[in-house]
Amino acid sequence: MSAVPGLWITFEGGDGSGKTTQARLLHEWIESTGRTVVRTREPGGTEVGVLIRDIVLHHRGDIAPRAEALLYAADRAHHVETLVRPALARGEVVIQDRYLDSSVAYQGAGRVLDATEVRELSLWGAGGALPDVTVLLDLDPVAARARLDADDKPFDRLEAEKDDFHARVRAGFLALAAAEPDRFLVFDASLPLADLATAIRERVQPLL
Ligand code: TYD
Repeated sequence: MSAVPGLWITFEGGDGSGKTTQARLLHEWIESTGRTVVRTREPGGTEVGVLIRDIVLHHRGDIAPRAEALLYAADRAHHVETLVRPALARGEVVIQDRYLDSSVAYQGAGRVLDATEVRELSLWGAGGALPDVTVLLDLDPVAARARLDADDKPFDRLEAEKDDFHARVRAGFLALAAAEPDRFLVFDASLPLADLATAIRERVQPLL
């Protein structure tokens, strides 16, 4: 959001692409330069968001695709209004796991809702807010699945979806990045962890 003094960085990518680790490494590095960093995520960056996260990720049984899209959008609306905007207004750096691109990729391409409608819904909820930069960690879903299996954690509702769902999600993210090359930085998430962290740092540094 260029009208405010802070910097808003979002991380996107499929499940198992390593977003959380890379977001943490970037956080540590930016903080070491003296900037204040707020680390957050969707869904679940606020108290209300934690409740919504529990519904969308752990409800047993189906949730209608449009209801799922609305739940993510509701989490987002509250998160942007109460946490992201105030931090940016204070001049802080916000590093966020997932934003509306996840809704377009998962609920749009994955669940096959209309991608434009899904995006418009979230933009309405978030008052039109878009990140300054979006780091997309691109990874073959088969490799991502192997990482998740190695983790030994039970799968949530979205992770448990089949391979073709995750292939559509990946293609959805890449299409978003191609449509907005000024906002997106795309990285090969199969790179060794430290090399990937260095590559991300080099691209983010000029923006600080
Ligand atoms: P994430 O927090 O990345 O999972 P984890 O904590 O297990 O690493 O994301 C939770 C799941 O929610 C993930 O499968 C993607 C999905 N999701 C959507 O389907 N739509 C959305 O708008 C968002 C933000 C996430």
